[in-house]
Amino acid sequence: MAEPTTEIVECDVLVVGGGMAGCGAAFEATYWGKDLRVVMVDKAATDRSGATGEGLSAINCYMGMKWGWNKPEDYVEYVRTDMMGIAREDLTYDVARHVDGTVHMWEEWGLPIWYDDDGKYVREGRWQVMIHGESIKPIIAEPVKKALGPENLYQRVFISHLLTDADDPNRVAGAIGFGVRENKIYVFKAKAVISAAGGTTALFRPRNTGEGLGRTWYSIFDTGSVYGIAIAAGAEMTQMEHRFVPARFKDSYGPVGAWSQLFRADLTNAAGDNYFINRLPELKKYDPYGSAFPTPTPLRNHLLLTEIQAGRGPIMLRTPEAIENLAAGDPVKKREVIVEAWEDFLDMTISQALLWASQNIAPEERPSEVVLAEPYLMGSHSGESGLWVSGPEDVAPDEYKWGYSKMTTIKGLFAAGDGVGASPHKFSSGSFTEGRLAGKAAVAYAMDQSSAPRVSDGQVADLKREIWAPLETFDTHKGASTNEDVNPNYLMPRQGLFRLQKLMDEYAAGVSAAFTTNEPTLLRGLELMGMLREDLGKLAARNRHELLRCWELSHRALVGEAHIRHLLYRKETRWPGFYYRSDYPDMDEANWKVFVNSRYDPESGKWDIFTKPCLDIFKPTSA
Ligand code: FAD
Ligand code: ADX
Repeated sequence: MAEPTTEIVECDVLVVGGGMAGCGAAFEATYWGKDLRVVMVDKAATDRSGATGEGLSAINCYMGMKWGWNKPEDYVEYVRTDMMGIAREDLTYDVARHVDGTVHMWEEWGLPIWYDDDGKYVREGRWQVMIHGESIKPIIAEPVKKALGPENLYQRVFISHLLTDADDPNRVAGAIGFGVRENKIYVFKAKAVISAAGGTTALFRPRNTGEGLGRTWYSIFDTGSVYGIAIAAGAEMTQMEHRFVPARFKDSYGPVGAWSQLFRADLTNAAGDNYFINRLPELKKYDPYGSAFPTPTPLRNHLLLTEIQAGRGPIMLRTPEAIENLAAGDPVKKREVIVEAWEDFLDMTISQALLWASQNIAPEERPSEVVLAEPYLMGSHSGESGLWVSGPEDVAPDEYKWGYSKMTTIKGLFAAGDGVGASPHKFSSGSFTEGRLAGKAAVAYAMDQSSAPRVSDGQVADLKREIWAPLETFDTHKGASTNEDVNPNYLMPRQGLFRLQKLMDEYAAGVSAAFTTNEPTLLRGLELMGMLREDLGKLAARNRHELLRCWELSHRALVGEAHIRHLLYRKETRWPGFYYRSDYPDMDEANWKVFVNSRYDPESGKWDIFTKPCLDIFKPTSA
């Protein structure tokens, strides 16, 4: 592979990631920073990149304040309870109080939202409204691209590292990456950087392997960069032990939310019994969360998993009865419900509709199997791993406030969406909203800087060499074996990915370990992770596509290591159904109702893990 050329881009605010949070950040930053240069960089094509690229069927975070449906405080209570008590209330409140404005703006931009006969949005559940959402991403990307201007949007450029100030390693100075379709290294110099590069998919061995590999629930664009680049730069992380294990339609990962809430379908065991209702009393053990309504997501999983472990699977989602109940004997209504059922998947998870078609499943005739998927690390859905950020100045207590809103512990580095920890249940609308808040704060920060950070030529030269190394490794050693995939001198990213996924699955409570682990298992996993990360220095790439895979893998591995270290540190089982510590099987409110935070020291390579208080800011009213 030829030597890459280098392009230097100078800007004030750099947004990394062009998904929901990135688009919100870029839109707001261009509004407030009219005299500044705002640049957005996306590893893919922004029109279809990120978790909303394949479409959505609902807006999952909407208060409906104009109709008096909910107050932001109500949402804080719901989110806190769903997280089994551990969430940053200031961050959730900040999103909730602003999210309706985002949804109304999206509607003006052309997003079709369902209306009922009273002229109000159709609600899926208390916080969710239904949309015709197949094209949500291009609808949102268009005005954002217009606000930025084509000269400020870099697509198909993968960010691999952050740059730090030559005089202050704790101050961000930009980011570096490479074009996946051109032989070019990009050096972005910026006063403020907003990390909005999505969550972590394919960190654990997925249920679908072989021919089904790649069909996962969360977005395949999201490969852990949002955490990986920040951890490597020394940013403080929070709740990296937390993960989201979604209950999904088997094999095509169709989401269950609309079926549980809009269509009101029951889940039953093989005998047709409603195991969920029968087992509810078991959750008393987890009070006050166990008796809350709705039952928190991990506890819903816990009931499903324990029913299967008791030998009473498979668990079936009773679509025929749900459709029959809603139709109430009216054939026209029944047709409407069936159409809505197909649209739910055609809008959001087309492969689920294809699976139904290919397996001759008509939802009005046959129920569908539901399983727990492999874990995902993310901060925007029912997961709360991510960066520790400063809270909004009017709500955050001193313990959660050290500067500009959404700024991490690295000066000038902001985060949004999946990137922000302890701030879950944002979904599409909340991630965009959090991006907007980060965008506005990053503009204020950039304007307050009397001088730009200094990027050292040495740091850039070292990183350029490191980024390109897998291509050179391949060129140097490719003749040593007859099959390019197998070589004593290097490791291909695909092999490395399988090794990482196996490790996470078996040692860090994946599907094959029934989501269970303990201290000796985690310690062995950590040892193996050390060896894997050492071997990643020998990654080889035949082309830029594989180079992309190498850097995705490096980010994933760093996220995996953070996850194992955090799992090891928290000595309790707080989220049964997401994971179990067999050596600490109970929830321990007295000692562990705290955030677990960590910091990796890029100089020494050592990790520091510690706790931060989990403060009640808004009084619980019902949990
Ligand atoms: P994303 O939107 O995923 O954006 C991440 C961006 O970062 C992408 O543009 C990606 O290309 C880019 N990127 C990644 N790595 C790099 C890198 N190294 N360099 C440069 N760019 C990079 N929410 C709802 O509200 N309603 C729903 O109905 C709903 N259904 C869902 C169904 C599915 C199948 C999925 C997967 C998600 C669903 N969600 C839904 C959740 C919602 O999509 C996410 O919460 C939201 O998109 C998260 O926003 P984000 O910006 O953090 O990440
Ligand atoms: S999606 O984002 O991939 O569509 P999902 O369908 O699981 O996710 O969830 C959509 C919304 O419904 C989320 O707000 C989720 O918390 C909520 N939800 C899903 N299942 C249930 C349930 N059984 N009870 C209450 N809320 C639920």
